[in-house]
Amino acid sequence: MKSKDLVQLEGKLDKSAELAKVAADLERAGVTANLRATTTQMVPGAGNPDAQIMFIGEAPGANEDHLGQPFVGAAGKFLDSMLAEIGLSRDDIYITNIVKYRPPANRDPRPEEIASSLPYLKRQIGIVQPKLIVFLGRHSMNAFFPELKIGEVHGQIIKDAGQAYLPLYHPSFGRYPRNRQTVLDDFKLIPAIIKKLTNN
Ligand code: URA
Repeated sequence: MKSKDLVQLEGKLDKSAELAKVAADLERAGVTANLRATTTQMVPGAGNPDAQIMFIGEAPGANEDHLGQPFVGAAGKFLDSMLAEIGLSRDDIYITNIVKYRPPANRDPRPEEIASSLPYLKRQIGIVQPKLIVFLGRHSMNAFFPELKIGEVHGQIIKDAGQAYLPLYHPSFGRYPRNRQTVLDDFKLIPAIIKKLTNN
């Protein structure tokens, strides 16, 4: 008989393979091919495919484009420090962006770029099956909840069709001293939310 550890490892490998297929399908379908033309590579997502928490940002920047990994620049360093404060690391989360290629000169992703990328993000969510989806910034939140304003709902749990979401300000917003405490306080809500979701 297979050990529990082996079954878990096989499940993780299956999820990794399924996530790789999503990235391959996105590339094959030419999603945001306009962006792809000016980038080094796709930044599909990274972390633990078995994670309970999935973070969704906006789009890769220059550092992410260079390394092929999400949130590896200044905003990512701040994110890592906030994760460490609540006892988590990148191995405990799955992290991706709505748009998988860097927009030129870090402009905001356009509505059509978000719309064409969204079905692939939804497939990623379906594979990881996180207990909690954390939106990093208004762009990712508005892709799911267009009517909400980040200034009004940041730090408040949203439940929709059996899925829990937590909208947060983007980490780059927290790098400004006057916003920092709000961003830190919101982030510290995560452990209690996860505890509550896993006890239900
Ligand atoms: N900002 C984002 O929204 N995503 C990244 O991957 C990096 C910075």
